Amino acid sequence: MPDTTPPPILVTPDGSRTALNTRFGEAYGSRHGAAAQAHHVFLEGTGTHEHPAPRVLEIGFGVGVNFRATLESAARRGAALDYLAFEFDPAPAGVLREVAMGGEGAAQPLWAALLEAWTDAGASSAGLDVWRGAARVRVHFQDVLSAELPRGWATALYLDGFSPAVNPEVWTPEFVARLSGTLAPGGVLATYSAAGHVRRSLQAAGLRVERRPGAPGKRECLRAVREA
Ligand SMILES: C[S@@+](CC[C@H](N)C(=O)[O-])C[C@H]1O[C@@H](n2cnc3c(N)ncnc32)[C@H](O)[C@@H]1O
Repeated sequence: MPDTTPPPILVTPDGSRTALNTRFGEAYGSRHGAAAQAHHVFLEGTGTHEHPAPRVLEIGFGVGVNFRATLESAARRGAALDYLAFEFDPAPAGVLREVAMGGEGAAQPLWAALLEAWTDAGASSAGLDVWRGAARVRVHFQDVLSAELPRGWATALYLDGFSPAVNPEVWTPEFVARLSGTLAPGGVLATYSAAGHVRRSLQAAGLRVERRPGAPGKRECLRAVREA
């Protein structure tokens, strides 16, 4: 019988929440600050926090902390947002709702619409495609390794699979090379990992890799730019 126990919710030091994924034995977001990681590693790492019309590709959607941070940032600036995420093991809508409670982006109409669609369609659907105003989110419920990916599209790529130690498939040189092809010229891939093999894979894919100070609890993280 499948395990239907809801994942435990974790409150992190910056007040934001995440959850524990029991399948991989890791938290979806940083235990040292889930929102802090979303902003520092992903939004600021890719420049999405100041992009006039970001197109974000995310692997994987998890419990939506990165998405809500990106949605709130775009809404505040009046920027159009196109967000495409992959998720092969969707968390129950109730978990997304509980993690978001009182958090940023939770009051945005697109977040409410996504939760509603997530509840109605559930994880058994192929995915969701929801719009509100100038913001759109698509979540494909499939394994990104076998998915068709856009080419030359993303202004930002959030590489946020579980760690290379427990989920090595999304960090291989072959897959990273495919990911590099999804970036628009000038597009930036960001990840919390600063592992040497991840850095080398990004370089081998033709990206210009920069190390940055890490989010709370991590010494370093990476950004990798597709030269224009
Ligand atoms: C670290 S969590 C992502 C947290 C998320 N970005 C957030 O803001 O809450 C990693 C997510 O990637 C998903 N994932 C891992 N490998 C995947 C794959 N091959 N295809 C699709 N999703 C994958 C996992 O199920 C998990 O939800």
